[in-house]
Amino acid sequence: TNIALIGVPTYAGAAQRGCQMGPEAYRTAALAETLSALGHVVEDRGDIRPGDAGGIPHSNKVVKNLGETVAWTRAIRDAGLSEAGFPVFLGGDHCLAAGSISAMAERAAREARPLFVLWLDAHPDLHTPATTTSGNLHGAPMAYVTGAEGFDDYPPLAARVEPENVMMMGLRSVDPAENARIAANGFEVRDMRSIDEHGVAAPLRAFLERVKAANGRLHVSLDVDFLEPGIAPAVGTTVPGGATFREAHLIMEMVHDSGLASSLDLVELNPFLDERGRTAKLMVDLAASLMGRKVLDRMTRSY
Ligand code: ARG
Ligand code: MN
Ligand code: MN
Ligand code: MN
Repeated sequence: TNIALIGVPTYAGAAQRGCQMGPEAYRTAALAETLSALGHVVEDRGDIRPGDAGGIPHSNKVVKNLGETVAWTRAIRDAGLSEAGFPVFLGGDHCLAAGSISAMAERAAREARPLFVLWLDAHPDLHTPATTTSGNLHGAPMAYVTGAEGFDDYPPLAARVEPENVMMMGLRSVDPAENARIAANGFEVRDMRSIDEHGVAAPLRAFLERVKAANGRLHVSLDVDFLEPGIAPAVGTTVPGGATFREAHLIMEMVHDSGLASSLDLVELNPFLDERGRTAKLMVDLAASLMGRKVLDRMTRSY
């Protein structure tokens, strides 16, 4: 696979600084070398920059950095549209998914194919600028890419993602406005309660079958806070009770085996909050599993 690493050093959507150091942390944790060792052709495109960001006022006064977030969205989308291969977007906070997913939806639409999204996150990020109560726009990209109203300041969507083509795994922090949006649309939600009861394998297998049957493209958006904070401390929005090391690797391995994934976000890593690089290294290892490394070597198991 031809992989392009696209550095997106933004913290515009986050509550605190630090995510802008994410791309350099992934480079330091040897992401490019790790994926090359799996036999892929990896090119690091360096970091992109947003265009001129004028301040954009909003009637919801808590909204932060709207102009910057819109400028990043446009730059990320343009970067994604200019790739022919498999882009890996190195965040940066999760506001980057507004750009990455809108680009991949447009690329899919050019091939007359639907885009599916596997959203791995403690949060659904389904706010609009009007409904956010924190004002942090990393809480809004999924509403934007699925065509919610209230994003007039953002770039118009060339193709929207159908909510029923989105599978969210790992949810355990959902605000009331987001809950209403989930209930009113057809998102497939596997919250932590569901994972505890049913595991990740069966629902993921069913989702991947749907992607395959629809001849879809698949985008994976991995937020650090999907993971249990004990194994992934480097994130500003920790929520207890996240996915385990084994669940996360299994998901990545199953997606790899499906051969369906064609783009990836690695978001919300805040290296300022990390412990000796362990979160950055774990995210690199998960990306490696997605790209074909067998961390759990099935051949040596004896049962
Ligand atoms: N729902 C909360 C908010 O809107 C948390 C969002 C967290 N999003 C993220 N990408 N970490 O502020
Ligand atoms: Mn998120
Ligand atoms: Mn999150
Ligand atoms: Mn393989």
